[in-house]
Order: sequence, then structure tokens, then C-alpha cells
Amino acid sequence: MNILAIESSCDETSASVLSNGKICSNVVATQLIHTQYGGVVPELASRAHQQHILPVVDKALTDAKVTKKDLDAIAFTKGPGLLGALLVGTSFAKSMALGLGLPLIEINHMQAHVLAHFIQDPKPEFPFLCLTVSGGHTQIVKVTSPLEMEVIGQTRDDAVGEAFDKTAKLLDLPYPGGPLIDKYAKTGNPLAYTFPLPEMPELDFSFSGIKTSFMYFLQKQVRENPNFIKENIEDICASVQHTLVNILLKKLKKAAKETGIKEIAIAGGVSANSGLRTSLLELGQQLNWKVYIPDFEYCTDNAAMIAMAAHYKYLNADFCDQTVSPMARMEF
Ligand code: KG4
Ligand code: ZN
Repeated sequence: MNILAIESSCDETSASVLSNGKICSNVVATQLIHTQYGGVVPELASRAHQQHILPVVDKALTDAKVTKKDLDAIAFTKGPGLLGALLVGTSFAKSMALGLGLPLIEINHMQAHVLAHFIQDPKPEFPFLCLTVSGGHTQIVKVTSPLEMEVIGQTRDDAVGEAFDKTAKLLDLPYPGGPLIDKYAKTGNPLAYTFPLPEMPELDFSFSGIKTSFMYFLQKQVRENPNFIKENIEDICASVQHTLVNILLKKLKKAAKETGIKEIAIAGGVSANSGLRTSLLELGQQLNWKVYIPDFEYCTDNAAMIAMAAHYKYLNADFCDQTVSPMARMEF
């Protein structure tokens, strides 16, 4: 059984082929054009997806040594994401399925981030908790089966990835700033500057207040010393990262305690953060958790996770029809 999956929700055009439950190719074209604008420009993202989608799909098929005739289904990201970007992948998948007479499978991007854990071994056992952290989302998900997931906590305003990227912008770092904060943080002192952690009820998060605290702190320091950022970039990044990771882990700890679940996973672009990965492993050791962290390649946006999610829907014969439309906002 061969599934071709397409991902185009933001600034990565990706295609992957899954054969009999195993990922055989995962091609990702990252759009570098957004770097100069300090963030993803939706219209430019759509145009770049149009340019990349054919060569990316071709390469995914070639790498997997599969031809169009060998395919059994086509899967695509329905949402959430940028509408114009999603439209490119959705239209492409629909046309290809129609042309080849194949069933279509629609995938929720956030569920796919969670199911990235089933690409490689070891795989988490059900039920598990997944902290899903990306540029657009921050969620704690309780996963009972590949097709049954419940969001038990989430951000009420900004996503943690956005807090990383917007803070990086204040530090004059190019987009996406998350990986650069991670890089500078490696040689900085995480306790050099401290910030008050937000108080949010239950398992919910908030990042807009802390983002503003970082901004006021930097403005004040730069007024006193115009070279403050340049002279202290490592310590600033380490302190910012330490604060954001603490906010995430505090709620994850609470979720594990309340549910009694000790199988703990992280997913999404921010799960590539080395501070988060290290602190989670340390916390897991302390609390006797089994911790699951995906390879870097499966943390940020990729079509392999879409293919993996499609595999479970295929086994359930859960197909959609040609009238399907992308959705910028999409719940589980
Ligand atoms: O999952 P993803 O690739 O796309 C979305 O669905 O949003 O996540 C992108 C986010 C960006 O905010 C980026 O800055 C962040 O993941 N990110 C990181 C790191 N690598 C990617 N944030 C912190 N540290 C990293 N190493
Ligand atoms: Zn994502």
C-alpha cells in the first residue's frame, strides 16, 4: 500500500511516500524568501508553493522508487495554516487523485505533528501526552489512539514559537529566530536575567505578556547602554529560552500529575529546541516519565508526518470527497 502525502500549510513545501506503513521518502523545500521580511508573507508563500510542488512531489516519488501508477491514495494537509498556502497543496492533491482515480485523505496538521512519533522507534504507548509546540500552536494533547486525541490545554493568545520568533526580531535576528535563540543560548547564562512567569488557570498557556516583558526589558537596557544586545546576546537568549521552556514544562508537569500519564512526548517546530529537549529529559528522569522526542527532521513541518497520519485513516477507510476545501482554522 503506497500513499503520497503533501504538506503546504506554511513555508515548507513537502511531499512524502509511505509504503506499507514505512516512510520511504520525505522531501522538504524550505522557502528562504521570507527571511528578508522578518516573517512569513502569505502571498509569497503561496507562490513559492506553486513553484516547488511539482519538483518536490517528483523527487518524493523518485526517492521512494514508486511511480504514480503504484499509488493507492493521496493525502494532504487540510489545515490549520495559511489559507492561500493550503490551497496549493489541496488543489494539487485533489487534481492528482481525480486524474489517477485514487481516494483522497484530508489531514489535520496538528494531529500529524503528534503522529510523527509513529515514524520511528521507540513509539509511545497509549495513552500518552504530547506537548505540541509550533509557530502557530501550543497545546497539551492527550492521545488515546492514532485517531483519538483531545486538547487538554492550550495557549489563550500567542504560540510559543511566535514568542521565540518575535523576541528574536527584537534582537535583530532574521526569521525564523527560534533556532538562532537556541544557538546563542548554548553559550549563555540562563539565569542572567529573570522574568515573571505568567499565571494561567488549569492547563492553559499565555505568551503575550511574557513577550511584552522581554520587549520592555530590552528597551530599558538599550536606553541605558545602546550596545546592550550586542554585548549580551548569549545571556539574553539563554534567559529568554529558559523562561519559555519553564512555562511549557510547568504545565506539562501539571498535566502529567492530573492525568497520571507517564508516557510524555513533544512535537512541532519548537520541539527542535535543545533547551526544551534537555530540560524535558532531565524532568522525565526525576519524575520517572518515558520521554519521546522526534528526530529534528520530523519536528518542523514535513510531509512524512502527514503520510503517517494518512496511514491510520487509510486503514479506517476514512476518505474525503472532491468537494473538500482547506481550512485556515481547524480544531481536532
Ligand atoms: O511546526 P513548525 O515547523 O511550523 C508551524 O506549524 O508553525 O514550527 C515553526 C516554529 C517557528 O516558530 C520556529 O522559530 C520554531 O518552530 N523553531 C524553534 C527551533 N526550531 C524551530 N524554536 C526554538 N528553537 C529551535 N531550535
Ligand atoms: Zn507545523
